[in-house]
Amino acid sequence: MEKTINVEKISSFEAIIEAQKIAFAPVVFQATIALKNLGILDLIFSKRNGISLTEIAEQTGISEYGADVLLEMAESAGIVLFSNEKFTISKIGYFLRSNKMTSVNMNFINDVCYKGLFHLEESIKTGKPEGLKELGNWPTIYEGLSQLTPKEQKSWFEFDHFYSDNAFDKALDVVFESKPKWILDVGGNTGKWSMKCCAHDPDVKMTILDLPGQLNVALKNAQEHQLEDRILGQEVDLLSANPVIPKGADAIWMSQFLDCFSKEEILKILKVAAEAMTEHTRLHIMETFTDRQEFGNASFCLRATSLYFTAMANGNSKMYRAGEFYELISKAGLKVVGDEDRIGEFHTILTCSKIDV
Ligand SMILES: C[S@@+](CC[C@H](N)C(=O)[O-])C[C@H]1O[C@@H](n2cnc3c(N)ncnc32)[C@H](O)[C@@H]1O
Repeated sequence: MEKTINVEKISSFEAIIEAQKIAFAPVVFQATIALKNLGILDLIFSKRNGISLTEIAEQTGISEYGADVLLEMAESAGIVLFSNEKFTISKIGYFLRSNKMTSVNMNFINDVCYKGLFHLEESIKTGKPEGLKELGNWPTIYEGLSQLTPKEQKSWFEFDHFYSDNAFDKALDVVFESKPKWILDVGGNTGKWSMKCCAHDPDVKMTILDLPGQLNVALKNAQEHQLEDRILGQEVDLLSANPVIPKGADAIWMSQFLDCFSKEEILKILKVAAEAMTEHTRLHIMETFTDRQEFGNASFCLRATSLYFTAMANGNSKMYRAGEFYELISKAGLKVVGDEDRIGEFHTILTCSKIDV
């Protein structure tokens, strides 16, 4: 897999610089957040010929000291350039300011994960999301999603949706190839996928399955789009003792869902799905597998996301490798009949059917 830095060829001199970047990473991160929120990055971006420290302080209304410490850090981190007493934006600064994926990732880390990640080591020891207490008192983040503050919710949903939205259009082609009339949307979240399916095919009916808080949100959204006759819902906790899901649907859809669970839990959920499947049912699992990415940078982001699951979400799940899913699918009595990468930029869809029918 392509690495973000060539660690085998790096000199000792470069390596010690990289080590300092890690040592001070939270400082650079918070300085960047401040530069964005205080409007300094925008201001420098708008001045193609550069802008002085005094002008920055005047135009943003912050002290010269404040602008100075932030911008010195930013210059050392390669975010801005400084010459002839003027600051200009660098290519890295440009992407930190203007690239959607970078913004979505930064807001998610800052608003949802930053404080909680302080408890990562504890989470590794206990197998529990010890950082979650920084947001609220729930066993996993999923029970709390509908109760997060508006800012936390915005960052969580933008992060989740950025990745899945990116894949939904191409995913429609895969799922509707077998012309399903009834689809179960497991972990339907805000109902986005179900509404997309209804827009794509006027005859399809959807049933969203989710925890109570999130199901309410999804059904309310469906109602607001006059889709309450076509999008139904069923509360289910798939980790409860004997979860049951409706039998006989043409397709079962699990998008960015199974990565919310440990391998043992995934196996249990796949067995529940298998129980509900007929010989015609297709189970479509859409995931971002760490070993199916085109670029090393994507794997870096996914592996970082795994640690959000560890410290914040539930303490025992992660972004998996495709082979790990193949093993679990087969243990659940299912077989993979379709395997398509490059669904959007990062996703793969594994389509499964029952083995013994
Ligand atoms: C990461 S979101 C996936 C959202 C959506 N499918 C997408 O692709 O954007 C995971 C969803 O699974 C739901 N969920 C988590 N744990 C669950 C459980 N034990 N039983 C049922 N649903 C659960 C959450 O409430 C959330 O809506």
